[in-house]
Amino acid sequence: MLPSATSEKGSAPSQATFRFRCIGCDSVTGSAAQDFRCSDCGNLLEITDSSWNSRNPTALKSLWRERRTLNESIDLSGVWRFRELLPAPASEQQVVTLREGNTPLYELPQSSRITGVPRLYAKHQGLNPTGSFKDAGMTVAATFARQAGYRWVVCASTGNTSASMAAYAARGGMRSLVLVPDGKISWSKLSQALDYGALTCQLRTDFDGCLRLLQELVRHTPVYQLNSINPFRLEGQKTLAFELLEQLGWEPPDHIIVPGGNLGNSSALGKALLEMRDLGLIQRLPKLSVIQAEGANALVRTLREAGGKRLVNVRPETRATAIRIGNPASWEKAVKVLQATGGACEQVSEPEIAQAKAEIGAEGIGCEPASAVTLAGLKKLLQQGFVKPDETVVLVLTGSLLKDPDYTMEFHRGDLFKGTMHEQESARLNPFRHPPVVLDATLDAVIKTLEQAEKSNPTHSNE
Ligand code: F0G
Repeated sequence: MLPSATSEKGSAPSQATFRFRCIGCDSVTGSAAQDFRCSDCGNLLEITDSSWNSRNPTALKSLWRERRTLNESIDLSGVWRFRELLPAPASEQQVVTLREGNTPLYELPQSSRITGVPRLYAKHQGLNPTGSFKDAGMTVAATFARQAGYRWVVCASTGNTSASMAAYAARGGMRSLVLVPDGKISWSKLSQALDYGALTCQLRTDFDGCLRLLQELVRHTPVYQLNSINPFRLEGQKTLAFELLEQLGWEPPDHIIVPGGNLGNSSALGKALLEMRDLGLIQRLPKLSVIQAEGANALVRTLREAGGKRLVNVRPETRATAIRIGNPASWEKAVKVLQATGGACEQVSEPEIAQAKAEIGAEGIGCEPASAVTLAGLKKLLQQGFVKPDETVVLVLTGSLLKDPDYTMEFHRGDLFKGTMHEQESARLNPFRHPPVVLDATLDAVIKTLEQAEKSNPTHSNE
């Protein structure tokens, strides 16, 4: 039998000033059950704190800027730097951090030329400690898990959550149990969980099956779930928006575009935008749009076929395995966010994702396939006139290029779509491929190859 949760390592979350609010019936409670659902209506909970609204926005902006010059670990974290708008741990010593956040906002000159959008940026969350945006949420959730005295933290994952959770658990002295779909997660992500010491179970099901089992598990054992329905995760992920707006001088972009899987990230960003507006940190809301893979388009269908009123789940299939999800847990939160910000929801095909990923790679920054849906989606939103070329657009890149090397290798070797329904169409992607060349180890062979490359692409320039 596992030891049960105790509060001996610190005060329980219920002693803090924050409360849990149901996003369905609006009821507010001081503590949350293990499934983070409202006991009245069954909808998901989110964290609210009455002190957030009483802050002075100008003072906050300068405090947060000043912290960038400080050296305490809590200030070096790009998440806890914004702690005035996060749930407060019992003490700063409780914080489990790997110096997450502080990720760059890049200009995308080549993608700007391709799309005709001069003010196009990428917020690269793949440059977090474990290589994905999950770290921003995990530092907060792991902190509260440790504070509440949990010994085991658990998650179901398509790979990035498990890598991140395992790292933060290791850092916080907790054990971690990971449930991942067998065969449908990248080796990079799986190997991270192993190295960080997680008990890793590859289940013969998909992500949705893993998540279902996890919900049962938390009802039977005193383990703490760190999936994105855990509202502490979303609090940490809010800081992406705080940091982005700080980088833009608190001038909101017109559009923020994110990939959609289990829909925690879009929910967190939307919550952050609304809180920033209510507090007066920004004067207007950017439109937050969500892009899904065509083969894992539950939110797209939920909006188109059911007006956002009930979830239309799908059997997911996409090579962007991070978002291979058919039954997204936070769909209701995401629908609310789209409605509140006036954002759009679109889907993109597998070849469109592959092309966008190659284009982002050609910018010298790269990302994993799930992140590339943002650029592919932007092209669609431009065609539809939803995004105008003179608007400011931020793409959120959620994971590092190194997260899925198999995908990248198969793409460049020309194998990615072999034997699939996209094989013919994908021929148009040939100009984006840079397969490795195997040569004899002679000077002559290398020079010839160099000359050929110059001949075949003489217009390629650095300007
Ligand atoms: N991009 C990447 C790289 C992801 O890993 C995920 C989700 C998403 C986008 C979608 O974000 O779920 O908040 O809508 N990955 C989860 C995981 C499901 O288990 O790693 P979301």
